[in-house]
Amino acid sequence: MTSGTPPVGVVLAAGQGTRMKSDKPKVIHPVCGLAMVEWVVRVLAEAGLERIVVVVGHGADSVRERLAGYPVEFVEQTERKGTGHAVMCAAPLLQGHDGVTVVSAGDTPLLMADTVRTLLEACRSGAGAALSTAFLEEPGSYGRIIRDAGGAFEAIVEAKDCTSAQLLTKEWNPALYAFDNKLLLESLPKLTTSNAQGEYYLTDVLGLVRAGGHRVDALPAKDAEQFIGVNDRWQLSEAGAAMRRRILRRHAESGVTIIDPDSTTIGPDVSIGVDTLVHPNTIIEGKTSIGKGCELGPNTWIKDSQLGDGVRAYMSHIERAEMGDNSRCGPFANMRPGARLAEKVKIGNFVEIKNASLGSETSVSHLTYIGDAEVGQRTNIGAGTITCNYDGFAKHKTSIGSDSFVGSNSTLVAPVTLGDESFVAAGSVVTQDVPDGAMAIGRGRQENKEGWFTRWRSQKQKANQ
Ligand code: UD1
Ligand code: CA
Repeated sequence: MTSGTPPVGVVLAAGQGTRMKSDKPKVIHPVCGLAMVEWVVRVLAEAGLERIVVVVGHGADSVRERLAGYPVEFVEQTERKGTGHAVMCAAPLLQGHDGVTVVSAGDTPLLMADTVRTLLEACRSGAGAALSTAFLEEPGSYGRIIRDAGGAFEAIVEAKDCTSAQLLTKEWNPALYAFDNKLLLESLPKLTTSNAQGEYYLTDVLGLVRAGGHRVDALPAKDAEQFIGVNDRWQLSEAGAAMRRRILRRHAESGVTIIDPDSTTIGPDVSIGVDTLVHPNTIIEGKTSIGKGCELGPNTWIKDSQLGDGVRAYMSHIERAEMGDNSRCGPFANMRPGARLAEKVKIGNFVEIKNASLGSETSVSHLTYIGDAEVGQRTNIGAGTITCNYDGFAKHKTSIGSDSFVGSNSTLVAPVTLGDESFVAAGSVVTQDVPDGAMAIGRGRQENKEGWFTRWRSQKQKANQ
């Protein structure tokens, strides 16, 4: 084995997962927004594996689709003849690899990169193979770790093949292994199906390596939670809950205050700056970055968005939007795709912004729709303003300059341009461009009818007689 060769990974993801009761293959079910197999691939990459071979079978196409964009290779296992058989299918891609091969199941999303690194280290220090182990009072159907009198690893025995004495073993096999690739390839052809399940067991490779006179390190892992394997929907929920807490904790440890972890969800690809405060019932997901000193929530949903420093978002929905430093929105703002706020922009209650850029210090405080628009700096848009961007055929653009003022309840019929320092009188329907510095008034002129109420009242009294 050449110590400098980067290790290679094999992820077993061909099983159906019957107990999920699903039309989809088990490993593509999501945990905190990522498919289980994506989590495993990410962890192996994080641990330094540059090549990863994914063994697919049941629902192969949807697994391939889910992993599009990841640097992985696929190999198909057409018949499910056991975990050993799955690795045999990957063997042609492992030929000539002079280093360590890590094998992991595809349904253990909580796996940690440090655990993989520990196994790599063991192989680097001379072990022919290494595996993680964990302890349970009653390990149920898991394979048992059998050690000799001196405590050295001897074999893994599947629960169905255990003697009654072996069944009492509390140390079990979570199915994370590292092999000297040469020993792995030598051992695979020696596997047989003479066992209780009539399958080729990958676990037998470890016994074979040991019997061949090589050191096998069975290393108890620190955190057994990482080996939660998902076989049914309830375990999927539990893995999701554990992952959610793990992500929240990572943010808390790096300086984010999360008031109520039980009601907060933060996705795996979210970054948040220090001193940001997250109130209850807040979901932040997708590729989102949030700056320092923000205040988010309660009841706020943020997806695929970029928020600067000091942003405040209360009870709002923000998707594919950008909010500059010290801008704010809510309560009840709908920041739709393409909303782009510069610094210190203020978006108030019941305001919807879509595909529109707003310059710094502009305010849109109440009950307004701004769509397909460009607004300058320090402009004030009054309550109830609507950009009429759609004429039933196409979307049209509204431009509003800087230092302008749009009076309440104005209707801006696009395409239309309002200049800098322009003013729109309240209640106007604006259908023509407004030059810089001009005031537009587009509404019926008010008329007062003197004494009108007395006449109306007497008509009413007659009618009621
Ligand atoms: C395996 C281990 C067992 C361990 C347990 C931990 C063997 C023989 N036993 O059990 O010691 O305690 O994992 O969960 O390895 N797969 C394929 N092709 C196959 C069979 C399985 O790709 O032909 C994949 C599955 O999709 C899954 C993984 O391998 O991701 C493990 O398979 P599973 O059937 O869950 O493992 P067990 O055999 O129950
Ligand atoms: Ca099995």
